[in-house]
Amino acid sequence: MTPEPNAPTGTDTPRTGPPPGCPAHRTGPGGPSRLHESGDLKKLYEELRAEHGPVAPVLIHDDVPLWVVLGHAESQQLVRSPARFCKDSRIWSALEEGLVKPDHPLMPHIAWQPMCAHAEGDEHRRLRGAIDAAVAATDFRSLRRHVNRSVQRVVNRFCEAGEADLVGQYAEHLPMAVMCHVLGMPDEYNDRMVEAARDMIRGTETAIASNAYVMGALERLTARRRAEPGNDFAGHLVAHPAGLTDDEVSQHLRVVLIASYEATANLLANVLRQVLVDPRFRSQLNGGQMTVPQAVEQLLWDEPPFSTIFAYFAKQETELGGRRIRKGDGLLFAPAPANVDPRVRPDPAADMRGNRSHLAFGGGPHECPGQDIGRTMAEVGVDALLMRLPDVELSISEDELTFTESIASRHLVRLPVHFRPRPQQDVLQKPSHENDASPRRNRHTAPPDPTPPPVQPVPAPPPVAEPAPPLNAWQRFLRWWRGY
Ligand code: HEM
Repeated sequence: MTPEPNAPTGTDTPRTGPPPGCPAHRTGPGGPSRLHESGDLKKLYEELRAEHGPVAPVLIHDDVPLWVVLGHAESQQLVRSPARFCKDSRIWSALEEGLVKPDHPLMPHIAWQPMCAHAEGDEHRRLRGAIDAAVAATDFRSLRRHVNRSVQRVVNRFCEAGEADLVGQYAEHLPMAVMCHVLGMPDEYNDRMVEAARDMIRGTETAIASNAYVMGALERLTARRRAEPGNDFAGHLVAHPAGLTDDEVSQHLRVVLIASYEATANLLANVLRQVLVDPRFRSQLNGGQMTVPQAVEQLLWDEPPFSTIFAYFAKQETELGGRRIRKGDGLLFAPAPANVDPRVRPDPAADMRGNRSHLAFGGGPHECPGQDIGRTMAEVGVDALLMRLPDVELSISEDELTFTESIASRHLVRLPVHFRPRPQQDVLQKPSHENDASPRRNRHTAPPDPTPPPVQPVPAPPPVAEPAPPLNAWQRFLRWWRGY
């Protein structure tokens, strides 16, 4: 690749048309690739890296030009240089020049909104300050306890059947159950809420009705917390001295709910898939050579839940990765290719355990504020499931697994598994196969039967558990301390 000569930085020459020879405006054979037409984005990113280096010209729908940042170091520069790049799409020249039509498929990501994800400077600090304060108030011991209880509830719905789809019945439910509780509306967690979030993410025909359903719940929550303070995420947003309006509170709750739900469901599904398809990975986990947090971190490198984030925009003429970037150019921040940049990972199969310098949570002023909440849901979600169903096995072969892929993310469609049918458990108990009433099996010594058990008709759920006898003060303390 021959880098373009670097233009001096800091010049604010207004754009009057494509820069001469700009590869992003050259179409036809040999011109920039259309990202949205690719059936294999991983492969395309590597071809682009080989041809153009760490910053490559591409086209998105309607042949709108964009730079995709493929390098790890260049991605860090992009997100950590607020004087040069921002997330305010109103300065995007493709928008100003009318290249992006109102019905552009990426409009939900493109359209500027008065949200912290698009705001800059003092306004970003105001909104972000309220979110950071709400996250800082999280009691992680109680969060872990709540995730364990949610695992019990979600697994109780399928444990007696001996089979399940761990995407549709587990990974897509657990984060919603937890986030409804974290935000302050535990009673709103139900199948309809999960369905609504799925709809909004996939942009299906019912996405608008689903958005109205979710917003209705969040607006009721905001009004409740305005009337009556509460020690939950919504309560902290309402009470923060930044003085968020009701509309700002409910819109930020929506971003938090949907973004955290989608990312965590994706991460959870990816870690579980890896455990199920890679016997080495699983035996390292079972044998203690790898901890669950390390397994989660490895997947954040290999399969970041958001493959790309749309988008950053150049505030001035500048240079990135040897490319001349014009004022108003759009740049796609792309954790998926940046995490496999050969300059930081010469061997893509190398073990990255314990190394947190991946870009799955972004960086700089917009770095994900909820990353430790996301990590906790994924870690406990994997650990507790394997504690309850230690003999869980994939029901199809690895090459039958299918994914949906868009520029923004790659999702596993289904993860069908089987295991020995088990009774439900008391949600107040720590998830464990030892709580099963049926005969125990030691997962380290007794390998599971490789033949899938016949599908059992699902009987009416038995009563969950007898109410436990009252606990004395010491038992209550132990329960609080251990989290179960
Ligand atoms: C595994 C789970 C998660 C992943 C992978 C993830 C990833 C990300 C990424 C890549 C960004 C954009 C960074 C950028 O633009 O440079 C982001 C922003 C954000 N995330 Fe997360 N996230 C996760 C969970 C959560 C959770 C649990 C919450 C809330 C409790 C949350 C709240 C937010 C918010 C509010 C922003 C916007 C921040 C800003 O623009 O200042 N995320 N996240």
